[in-house]
Amino acid sequence: MKDFENRISELLAKMTLDQKIGQIVQPERQFVTPEEVKKYHIGSVLSGGGSVPGDNKPEDWIKMNDEYWAASMEEDEDHLAIPLIYGVDAIHGNTNVLGAVVFPHNIGLGAAHDPDLLERIASATAEEIAATGVEWTFAPTLAVARNDHWGRTYESYSEDPKIVSEYAPRFVKGLQGNYGEENVIACAKHFIGDGATLHGIDQGDMCISEKELRKIHVPPYKAAIDAGVLSVMVSLSSWYGKKCHAHKFLLTDLLKKELNFKGFVISDWDGIDYIDESYEESVAQSLNAGMDMFMITEKWKEFIQHVKTNIKNGRIPMERLDDAVSRILRVKFEFGVFEKPRPAERKLSKDPSCFGSKEHREVSREAVRKSLVLLKNEDDILPLKKESRILVAGKNAHNRGHQCGGFTVAWQGVDDTDESKDKSYVMTDSEKEKPRDKTNNGKTAHRSSIIGGTSIWEGIQRVAPNAILNVDGTKADPAKHDVAIVCIGEVPYAEMLGDIRVEGLRKGLKIGKGSTADETLPGEDIPIVKKGPYGTHLYLHELHPEDLETIKNITQKGIPVVAVMICGRPLVIEQELTETKAFLVAWFPGSEGQGVADVLFGDYRMQGKLSFSWPRYDDENWNVGDEGYNPMFPYGYGLTYK
Ligand code: GLC
Repeated sequence: MKDFENRISELLAKMTLDQKIGQIVQPERQFVTPEEVKKYHIGSVLSGGGSVPGDNKPEDWIKMNDEYWAASMEEDEDHLAIPLIYGVDAIHGNTNVLGAVVFPHNIGLGAAHDPDLLERIASATAEEIAATGVEWTFAPTLAVARNDHWGRTYESYSEDPKIVSEYAPRFVKGLQGNYGEENVIACAKHFIGDGATLHGIDQGDMCISEKELRKIHVPPYKAAIDAGVLSVMVSLSSWYGKKCHAHKFLLTDLLKKELNFKGFVISDWDGIDYIDESYEESVAQSLNAGMDMFMITEKWKEFIQHVKTNIKNGRIPMERLDDAVSRILRVKFEFGVFEKPRPAERKLSKDPSCFGSKEHREVSREAVRKSLVLLKNEDDILPLKKESRILVAGKNAHNRGHQCGGFTVAWQGVDDTDESKDKSYVMTDSEKEKPRDKTNNGKTAHRSSIIGGTSIWEGIQRVAPNAILNVDGTKADPAKHDVAIVCIGEVPYAEMLGDIRVEGLRKGLKIGKGSTADETLPGEDIPIVKKGPYGTHLYLHELHPEDLETIKNITQKGIPVVAVMICGRPLVIEQELTETKAFLVAWFPGSEGQGVADVLFGDYRMQGKLSFSWPRYDDENWNVGDEGYNPMFPYGYGLTYK
């Protein structure tokens, strides 16, 4: 990082206690107005997954962020002009926003084994974020997921730290570039060991030695820090019962001193709530442990009071607060936000044509192709001939919502079939204020939550003239169909709602309040494709029995089946594998489903290799190197054809 120390100390010397405390607070947009940003000197605002302004178009985002930014820059006798930075979860494209290109989730990118591609994806994503006037994304996730029960496995590139460490610097570089107007601030998350909790319980307890922590989970962060990542987000999980959000060894001794991280450390969503029964004590413990910025979605005014009290009574040393503020200012100087024009005046805000562009869609389609992993290809049934008479079936054949997975338009993702479009549609702020427009003789307008892109079916339909869609497969007829493609697997989920919780393990693990799906199912107002936890075992035939039923509707007619599985993690698929001639894993491929057809028909070669071991049983012997390692398909497996 360049030397901004003079500018930092000059500005710090001018700041009042209120201005310093305001700089370390990040409320969620629904709970703070631009007027409050100025009044309380707020340094950052975020959108949680699915928290969108206006009609959720780029211009609505630019308008919103321009108002927040302007408020932060309105200097007067009480307020110093320090530009606000806005944060979003653009973890696989700028996917809160309607029409954004949705890239494959990280688990698929891990199977592509292509670091150059990662940098291109990050660069395209940065452009689509900047085109909405936003400066910061909470990405890349550097989890090394070690247990497929975890609901966030799909946010991890691999169980192997080598792949994650290779990708980390490239993704950071693609996002941050040379800090230009087409770049954004990156955020390595969630520090540390979010993917290493007991039984894969989200926000659970990591019970591993420091030696294993250093071997498996530290290297990706070292790589990201050496590449200049400007922010790090802390994990909501614990290490042997102590919350990472209050862990001085992890946040200060390891991250800031040993790894020499000079940027700022941000908490995760209300993550300090779970430290101590007393909120005031939690605030003190976390700040003193080394937390610099606090994502306090709603009760940020209470937080401000507690910081003030703790400073006044000496529980938090002023030097610590000054250090936190200095780190935030250093990033804002380094990234050039003091010099950038206001959000509405920036290059990509004024010409957002890159947003959802064909060029970006081609990058995502290439990523889909390279992410596909072929587990079975009996009698070399693949690649298929385009003129074959193909029956396309399965719940995931024509559902762009399902193929995008979580953190897409809504926190939990969306269901995008014709029947469900309306139910899962995420109403925008302006729609919430007025009744939904009625069209087609009073019927509610069907809206698509995923605008642009292609479903897997649409991709097949474009190249195979004799293909038909029949979701449940009951129209299968050997006189009419040579082969069937059945698109099966998971439906969207995010975080703890995606956990697979083996019965009996749900309770008894002391991992803090409000941090397990059993205790905190979200309210009705959040569109949920599937309530969590996702299930109790990794058996696909248990999680989604409809898939085997669809496959059998077809095989019992003597028609061979090629399975295409949408999923966020390896699943136990023995029954489905036996019943099908070929089995292709597409992960959560995103909006460009056409990439699947590109490879199914041999226009591009099959090249993906597993970055996660594929389990034979649901027995938690997951990872390459584990004792008793006995996968159905080993790490690195993947059939090919020219
Ligand atoms: C969530 C996630 C984190 C995300 C943050 C903001 O709870 O843990 O990955 O960046 O909140 O939405």
